[in-house]
Amino acid sequence: MMKRNILITGGAGFIGSHVVRLFVNKYADYNIYNLDKLTYAGNPANLKDIEKKPNYRFIKEDICNFDAILQIFRQYNIDGVIHLAAESHVDRSIKDPFTFAQTNVIGTLSLLQAAKTVWSESNCGGDGSVSPRFYHISTDEVYGALEMNNPKGGDEPGGGPYGDKFFTEQTKYNPHSPYSAAKASSDHFVRAFHDTYGMDTVISNCSNNYGPYQFPEKLIPLFINNIRNGKPLPVYGKGENVRDWLFVEDHARAIDLIFHKGQTGETYNIGGFNEWKNIDLIKQLIKTTDEVLGNPPHHSDHLIQYVTDRAGHDLRYAIDSTKLKEELGWQPSLQFEEGIKLTVQWYLDNQEWMDNVVSGQYLEYYKDMYEKR
Ligand code: NAD
Ligand code: TYD
Repeated sequence: MMKRNILITGGAGFIGSHVVRLFVNKYADYNIYNLDKLTYAGNPANLKDIEKKPNYRFIKEDICNFDAILQIFRQYNIDGVIHLAAESHVDRSIKDPFTFAQTNVIGTLSLLQAAKTVWSESNCGGDGSVSPRFYHISTDEVYGALEMNNPKGGDEPGGGPYGDKFFTEQTKYNPHSPYSAAKASSDHFVRAFHDTYGMDTVISNCSNNYGPYQFPEKLIPLFINNIRNGKPLPVYGKGENVRDWLFVEDHARAIDLIFHKGQTGETYNIGGFNEWKNIDLIKQLIKTTDEVLGNPPHHSDHLIQYVTDRAGHDLRYAIDSTKLKEELGWQPSLQFEEGIKLTVQWYLDNQEWMDNVVSGQYLEYYKDMYEKR
C-alpha cells in the first residue's frame, strides 16, 4: 500500500471522529494528522480508542491561521486533505454569523491556499508518485429547501414520501441560513481552486447525520438525553419539517470511497433516501428510548413541547445519491430503525461522555493536555 500523509480537519468533532477512526484503523500505512481547534464542538474523548495508534497524531490548530497551516503542510509533507472542520449548527449561525463566515469560508480558503502553495512547489510523496487531493466535506443545506408536494409515494421510482423533487448534483445553490450560506461559499472556493489552479479537488454534500459522538445541541442526541432526564423536548414550529437521515458510519465509508475513487473536480451527493418528518422521528425516538430505559409505552410522550419555529427554517431536505451509487457502488448499510436503536443504546450506555459534554467538563479536562504545539 502507498504511504500517505493525510490531514483530516475537524477530526475531534462528530463526523470527523468517525472518519479519523476509519482511516487510522483501515490504513495502517497512512499517517493521519487530525487538525482541530477544539472549539466547544471538538472533544478528543471521541477518539480515545485510537489516540495511541502509531499512525495517528493530533494537532491543535485553527484552520484560519494560514502561517501555521502552511508550516504543517511542509512539516508533515501533507499529500491529501479531508476537510471537515466547520461551525456546524444552524441555530448558532443565526445568532453569530461572523464566526461561521470566518471558520467556514476564511478557514477553507486558508487550507486551499496552503495546499496550493506547498503542492505547487514540491513533489508530494517525495518521488511525485502521489497525486495530492483536497476533499471538501459539505452539506445538502447549500441547495436550499424543497417543497412538500403531492407525493407519489415512497415506493414509486422518482418519488419520495414527502415530494417528488430531490437535490441532485445539478441543483442550483440556494442557501437560506448563515450556516448554509457560509458552506455554499466554501464550496465555491474549492471549485474555484480546481478551475483556476488545476487543484485536484472533490466535494461531497451529505444529508443530516446521526449516530454516536454527536454534540447534544443537535436534535437526536439532545432529545435522547432530555428523555433520559425527563426534560422537555422543544419541537420547532409544528414539527412538519422533513430531514433525510444517514448513519454517520455510512457517511464515513462514503468519504473513504470518494477520497480514493472520486473523479477530480466532481461533486457527489450522499444520502440514504430516508426522509422523516421531525415529529414522526421524535415519536420514534421516544418509543425507542423508553423501550431501552424499560419505561412503559408512551411514558415520555408528554415531554413534547411545541416552541417558536427556527427563523428561515428549511422545510424539506431530500438527497438523490444515485450518482454515488452508480459510479462508486456506495449504499447505506443500516436501516433507520436499526440505526436509531443502536444510537439510543450508545448514548444511554455512554452517560459519562454525555454528562461531561453537557457540563462542559471535557473542555477543562483536555485544556492542558492539548496545549498549542
Ligand atoms: P461538529 O460541529 O461536530 O465538529 C466540527 C469540528 O470542527 C469540531 O471538532 C471543532 O473543534 C472543529 N473546528 C471548528 N472550527 C475550527 C477551526 N477554526 N479550526 C480547526 N477546527 C475547527 O461538526 P460535524 O457535524 O461533525 O460536521 C463536520 C462537517 O460535516 C462540517 O463541515 C459540516 O458542515 C459537514 N456536514 C455535517 C452534517 C451533519 O449532519 N452533522 C451533514 C452534512 C455535512
Ligand atoms: P438539527 O439537528 O439542528 O439539524 P439541521 O438544522 O442541520 O437540519 O435539526 C434537525 C431538525 O430538527 C431541524 O428541522 C430543526 C429541528 N429541531 C427541533 O425541532 N428542535 C430542536 O431542539 C432542534 C435542535 C432541532
